[in-house]
Order: sequence, then structure tokens, then C-alpha cells
Amino acid sequence: MTATRPLRSELCDLVAAVRAYVEWQGVLGTTGFPRLGRGGGAVPAVDSAAVERRVASVPVSEPGGESRSDPAPLPPSPPRPAVAEPTGSRAEPGTGTATTPVVFPGAAPVVAAASEARSPSGAGREQSETAARDGEAVRSRLAVLQREVAACTACRLHLGRHHSVFARGMGTSGICFVGEGPGAEEDAQGVPFVGAAGQLLDRMIAGMGLRRDEVYICNIVKCRPPENRRPQPDEMAACRQFLEQQLELIDPEVMVALGATAVQGLFDTTEGITRIRGRWRLYRGRIAVMPTFHPAYVLRTPAARRDVWNDLKEVLRHVGREIPGRSP
Ligand code: URA
Ligand code: SF4
Repeated sequence: MTATRPLRSELCDLVAAVRAYVEWQGVLGTTGFPRLGRGGGAVPAVDSAAVERRVASVPVSEPGGESRSDPAPLPPSPPRPAVAEPTGSRAEPGTGTATTPVVFPGAAPVVAAASEARSPSGAGREQSETAARDGEAVRSRLAVLQREVAACTACRLHLGRHHSVFARGMGTSGICFVGEGPGAEEDAQGVPFVGAAGQLLDRMIAGMGLRRDEVYICNIVKCRPPENRRPQPDEMAACRQFLEQQLELIDPEVMVALGATAVQGLFDTTEGITRIRGRWRLYRGRIAVMPTFHPAYVLRTPAARRDVWNDLKEVLRHVGREIPGRSP
């Protein structure tokens, strides 16, 4: 209506922008901010364009989703000597009764949006209609794939699953995160990264200036390994075809491999994450992959946060996005 509405929404925007920034600082381990001296440093002017971008990135709040004690099998943090990777024992057995697999509503509609959103902006009606048709085809192929995953018995992991876990998010940013495999919470909900590590991942995504649904998130294996143990090589091999098809369909511009198992699943290497994080690799000769620490490891090892932030900044640079908030 009148002037109050824009003012209120501007205020909301401002609060949202501050919140995203503070959340990311929290992820980085910042415990306070320097005080500006009276009459000293000038208060920086608000960049309203940046505020708008941030507002667009306010994370969608997550229902429920607590905890698995989740140690991803990652080595201690840098400096760089290669360290033997602890085998994660991700406590707590799954509970609940087996049900029919959840078809995650995000995955399929998502991709259409991803390819449509990334079609050239001035491309004209015909091109966007083609993109929409392509998006539709991709969407339905993903839906088929998701059903195949839900029915899959190709490895022993199907025996203990309550739900297979296919993917989450739309991937419109061109960024795809690849994790290890579902934990207890993910197995219960049929959605990746909804436990404690997932909440940290969400804060990282918000800190990158992205909305939660703008990235695509999937895992190397789609069923939960018992006791949150690391997936075994034959399980990863059995599941690989699904990941390959997902990536083929999503066609991300860049991937972030979260932890050693993700790197191993993508590249068939046993190199320690400590040695290889922060260095670009090429998946199948065409998709850039940034290996970084798994958020579960970051939860246990706050010193790793800065490394992860540096890696994520590289990812933002790669896709030509502004890097929000300077690193402290
Ligand atoms: N850790 C993972 O690697 N994947 C998930 O989906 C959740 C936690
Ligand atoms: Fe099939 Fe993958 Fe589940 Fe194994 S982990 S049963 S290969 S979907």
C-alpha cells in the first residue's frame, strides 16, 4: 500500500542479509566483531544491490532434522601430512519401520528449473521453449531413476534401509554437492543432508550467498551403511551407475566433493582428503570438482572451517558469482 510496506520489506531484507553473514561467520568460527571506534572507522554504506542478492539467499528453514553423531571418515585437519583415515563409526542404529520409498519431490522438478535457468538470457522464445521441453524430459528421466533407486537391491545396503536417498535441491546455480551416503536422519526422511552435518552444510550454502534449493545435493551411495560406517568399495561400485546418470542429467557446472569417500567414489582414488582438498580435478574430462572436507568432519574440527571456506570461494569464482562477506 503506502510507504510503510517498502520500508518494512527493506528492513526485512537488511535483517536477512545480516543473518546470512553472521551465520557464515559462525561457520568460520568467528566469535566477535571488531568495534568501530567513536568517530573512527566509518560505518560502511549499505550496498542495496548486495542486500537484494543476499535476501534472495536467505536459507529456507529446515523442519526437524537432528543429528546423527556422524563422523565422516576423514583425516585430521591440515597441515598437510597424509594421515590414515579413521573409519567412521557413525553411531546409532536406525529405528522405525520400513515403509515404501519416499519419492523426494525436489529432485525431478528441480532439474527442469536448472537447465531452464541456465539457458542464455537473450535467447528468445523458441530457445526457451526448447529448454522447457528438455527440462521436462530431464525431469521425467530423473523421476524414473529415483524410482529405480528406491527399488534397487544391487548391494547389501538395501537390506537395512528405511528409505533410499536420492537428491535434494534444484541445482540452478550450476553447483552440485556430493556427499558420502545417508545417515540415520537421512534414512528416516529419504532426503540427503538433513542431520547435523546437513545443517552445517546449509549454513555454508547460505554463506555462499545461495538459497538452499539452488544447489543440487546427492551422495555416492543411496542407502544408509549400517552404523554409519563408510560405504565399501563394492557398494560404491554397485551404486555408481545411479550417480553417473544423475550427473549426466543434472549436468552441473561444478561439483564439490564432500570428504574422502566422495572423492573416492567420483575418481576411484584412495588419496587422503587432507592432501587433495582445495585442488581442482576434472570429472570425466569435463566437470570441475573441488574436493573439500565433509561437514561432519568440520563439526568435529572447527579449524577446518577456514579451509572449507577457501574451497567454496574457489567454487564461487569458478561459476562467476560474487563472494559474499570477506573472510575475516
Ligand atoms: N553425510 C553424507 O555424506 N550424506 C548425507 O546425506 C548426510 C550426511
Ligand atoms: Fe542399490 Fe545403491 Fe542402495 Fe546399493 S546403495 S542397494 S546400489 S541404491
